[in-house]
Amino acid sequence: MKTRVAIIGGGPSGLLLSQLLHLRGIDSIVLERQTKEHVLGRIRAGVLEQGLVKLLEQAGCADRLHAEGYVHDGTLISYDNSMFRIDFTEHTGTPVIVYGQTEVTRDLYAARDAAGGHIEFQVEDVVIHGADTDAPHVTYTSQGQQHRIDCDFIAGCDGFHGVSRQSIPLTVRREYEKIYPFGWLGILSQTPPVAEELIYANSPRGFALCSMRNENLSRYYIQCALSDKPEDWSDEDFWQELKRRIPADQAEKLVTGPSIEKSIAPLRSFVTEPMRWGRLFLCGDAAHIVPPTGAKGLNTAASDVHYLYQGLCDYYENDSTAGIDSYSEKALARIWKAERFSWWFSSLMHRYPDQSEFDLKMQLAELEFLRTNKSAQQAMAENYVGLPY
Ligand code: APR
Ligand code: PHB
Repeated sequence: MKTRVAIIGGGPSGLLLSQLLHLRGIDSIVLERQTKEHVLGRIRAGVLEQGLVKLLEQAGCADRLHAEGYVHDGTLISYDNSMFRIDFTEHTGTPVIVYGQTEVTRDLYAARDAAGGHIEFQVEDVVIHGADTDAPHVTYTSQGQQHRIDCDFIAGCDGFHGVSRQSIPLTVRREYEKIYPFGWLGILSQTPPVAEELIYANSPRGFALCSMRNENLSRYYIQCALSDKPEDWSDEDFWQELKRRIPADQAEKLVTGPSIEKSIAPLRSFVTEPMRWGRLFLCGDAAHIVPPTGAKGLNTAASDVHYLYQGLCDYYENDSTAGIDSYSEKALARIWKAERFSWWFSSLMHRYPDQSEFDLKMQLAELEFLRTNKSAQQAMAENYVGLPY
């Protein structure tokens, strides 16, 4: 097989890139190791920056998002049994849209299917060959048969556990990582959200987050020990703990119910540099991971896709390598700012096992400064709604 761009990974990054390229007449083949059902079964964050919304509009995949998504002009932050609001629209003129990442992925699959996009599912043994040459190719097996795709470029959109990042020699690659000493226990429940907007809560018992998917589907998280397993937590235990971590007036109106999904996610900050090696380009989780505190995972994947898509269009339409040559530098410049914000917001909202009394005083002073200072709220709002591409 031959294609212009071989895309490894059929998650949001790979699908969005494939659809955008298709609309500019640039063909690609997506290789996904799972089934579509498995990919669509993943529960992930649900806050979209305007940059991602615009990309989805460009890709012709934003109709349902606009019909079913929730425009949020701000978010709530609670500590010490009080709550204050960060007004995104007042400080930046832009809101965010709350819309499940699973739905974004579903919309992207629908668009690729409607366009007759070439997606190979349940592929195995994907290997990247000749990324540092002008004639790279990818091999893989499917249903026991070995296949080869000759291509101009390879987009590594295969997430943190994929093969793409590992295909860049360690003599070239530099990795930066921070592992957080706790996880997030999350549940999905068919109950009305406790508030109109998200509540990020810092409490003496740890972090909690009240989020939502629609008026009868809520998403809640509590900070938990790394040693915890979902089965250690009954629904009742979860609800009781959540109520202890949010302001009493919110706890009183919290509607509880059976969990329809319960899982624990570890928290990590991670970046690999560079994001390009020859004709291989890393996008999204293949290159970087953020703690979910700022909901930046999908949104940083989106800006990577934007830069790579622009660079590839420049190459094929204007015979210019300027875009692909500057891809890694441009993508990393925005990624590191998102990493900083996600690290800062995580440091602000969680209780750390090794936190000294002084550290705690600093955390509470930072929260008090954010509550009372307009410039601090402006900076928070600008980062939360998404820095410019
Ligand atoms: N071969 C083919 N596909 C692979 C391989 C492989 N060797 N390894 C992983 N994959 C697939 C995974 O099954 C997954 O569907 O690559 C896809 C990567 O998707 P994501 O992990 O969702 O990463 P990305 O598309 O960059 O999306 C980033 O989505 O998953 C969230 O937290 C993530 O919010 C972030 C955003
Ligand atoms: C979610 O709705 O799953 C969500 C929202 C905001 C975050 C993280 C997760 O920061």
